[in-house]
Amino acid sequence: MTGWTAAEGLEELHLRRDPATGLVAVVAIHDRRLGPAKGGTRLRAYPDLGAAVADAARLARAMTWKFAVHGLPYGGGKAVVLQDARGASDRALLEARLEAYGAFVERLGGAFGTGPDLGVGPTEVAVIQRATAHAVGGGAHGDASAATAAGVRVCLERALDRVGGELAGAVVAVQGVGAVGGALAAQLAERGARLLVADVDPARAEAVAATTGGRAVDPAEVLFAQADAVCPCATGDVLSAGAIPRLRCRVVAGGANDQLAAPVLERARALAARDVLYVPDFVANGGGAVALTAGAPTIGPPEVALAERRVGETLERVLARAEASDATPYEAAVAEAEAALASA
Ligand code: PHE
Repeated sequence: MTGWTAAEGLEELHLRRDPATGLVAVVAIHDRRLGPAKGGTRLRAYPDLGAAVADAARLARAMTWKFAVHGLPYGGGKAVVLQDARGASDRALLEARLEAYGAFVERLGGAFGTGPDLGVGPTEVAVIQRATAHAVGGGAHGDASAATAAGVRVCLERALDRVGGELAGAVVAVQGVGAVGGALAAQLAERGARLLVADVDPARAEAVAATTGGRAVDPAEVLFAQADAVCPCATGDVLSAGAIPRLRCRVVAGGANDQLAAPVLERARALAARDVLYVPDFVANGGGAVALTAGAPTIGPPEVALAERRVGETLERVLARAEASDATPYEAAVAEAEAALASA
């Protein structure tokens, strides 16, 4: 899908270019029926502006469904800051860009509030916060990754239970061991899962394998490992027409956004036809959104526990709806979210 087609469903689309720093940022606001739009800021290189717009638009829609399905009073939004070679090698320049981006968010006057996402952790959010009050998850507010991971983990536990397995002793393959995937691997290892881990950065995969007693595997093959469960925790579109027939697991649940490649309904049905229980991404990865919007001064154990509880309850509702309506969990999750939006 091109950027402009993806943008058709949006309420607002903002582009900010700051020649002084080289900042190029896109803010997509998808739907504010439930409240002001919120969503993380992603820092990533894109082939062109259209691809950046497409990513922001799609991620913003996922945020609308994420807040709606978990019963949170916010609308869906997302931002991307385009990364390039200069930004990747010059930290001072990157920070100047992030600060200029923060000033841009501030000028939106609260229509969009932001926080961490791929490439943007607490350190980067703290830089954005120098220029705006409309950001959470920076510096001392703490890291939402453990909360996101806790939500994914509870989904894995419940999904494995549904297919007659259990986490202790299960083989779990984790694709991407950055902030969320790394925290997830640690939580799974603590509960006795046997881990296969992969990352585009092989040193990172090796390090996580060493601390979790797992094994580092080829990132090109991790999805297709013989495993009880697979956890996509990297980028989107990984559940494609080519990938689904090659899966050798019973459960897929991960922290990545937009895991299903288009056309998504067809992919969701293909997973079900293969007897793979797919936990919809915006259900599984909602723990960060729950913890970040909880209003606590720091994200600590109570917020992680809240995220875990809320995501677990949402999954039960979604699976019950799927069973009652003979739909895939993905369709049931979208129906749950749309019902919440319609009643706003
Ligand atoms: N970016 C993460 C997500 O997609 C966390 C986040 C949630 C950031 C809500 C800001 C607001 O869920």
